[in-house]
Amino acid sequence: MTSEARIQHWRAQIEQHLSTTALAPQPGIPQTLQAAMHYAVTGGGKRIRPLLVYASGYLLNAEEDNLLIAALAVELIHTYSLIHDDLPAMDNDDLRRGRATTHIAFDEASAILAGDALHSRAFELLTTHISAPTLALACIQTLSTAAGAGGMCGGQILDMHATGKHQSVNALEQMHQLKTGALIRAAVRLGALCGQADTATLEQLDRFANALGLAFQIRDDILDIESSTAELGKTTGKDSAFHKSTFPSVLGLLPAKTRLQQLAQILQNELVSFGPRAEPLNYLAQLAILRNH
Ligand code: IPE
Ligand code: IPE
Ligand code: MG
Ligand code: MG
Ligand code: MG
Repeated sequence: MTSEARIQHWRAQIEQHLSTTALAPQPGIPQTLQAAMHYAVTGGGKRIRPLLVYASGYLLNAEEDNLLIAALAVELIHTYSLIHDDLPAMDNDDLRRGRATTHIAFDEASAILAGDALHSRAFELLTTHISAPTLALACIQTLSTAAGAGGMCGGQILDMHATGKHQSVNALEQMHQLKTGALIRAAVRLGALCGQADTATLEQLDRFANALGLAFQIRDDILDIESSTAELGKTTGKDSAFHKSTFPSVLGLLPAKTRLQQLAQILQNELVSFGPRAEPLNYLAQLAILRNH
């Protein structure tokens, strides 16, 4: 099977279970909250993070049942981060994944609460569906650390505070590594944990994921300039209009592209020693860097 076909298969699994297992209606959930959660989660999206869970687990022959649950959990956290990122108090965006953002389609309170509930649901899934308690605990530790103040949330506040100000390249890298890199690293680590990776493998994959997380956000920053709203499914040109601190704004567009190429090389080098089972992971990394949306 080609890497592309394998990824298609995983993506189909992820899509199917995002609207069933991940958001299974439970007694007592108010219908409007369930609807807002469902709207945000099932409205498209590249599913890069859950696919990374699968690809990293595949490398180590992990059980697919556990990979699925870890994949769903990380996508729920990511979707919650997008709902909140789009709120008027943050980036104030009205378009996401080609349609109205959750606070526009519903209302602000519903969007905030849908985000909160998706966050909780991610951990509920890990506690109830992962096959062994020690693995569940390791997954919860990884995901909660990545999503929290020392990870995604920390990066998001650095982003808000950097807006309109000059930042050094080092500070910018640190911000990107937290706001976007932390969840991408967590995705790769979750797959590796499901595959019972040893410490050396966890460290090697973490170096790969660290470069990937940074590269992913640099690509996002470049697409905000070079892509179109129709292709991206979110409003382009907003970073410069709102004086966001980005790689192109701090370094310039060409140096940002050069940095991305350097990271692409690092990514390939880190995977060489894993041999052919790393092909889907390598394929996904290149997709994340070369993507047009
Ligand atoms: C967008 O992430 C936000 C960033 C962290 C750059 P994605 O580009 O993965 O968004 P979706 O999930 O495909 O919509
Ligand atoms: C978002 O970064 C990062 C998180 C949601 C954690 P951006 O603000 O650049 O993402 P987009 O461009 O709105 O998707
Ligand atoms: Mg933002
Ligand atoms: Mg944004
Ligand atoms: Mg962006």
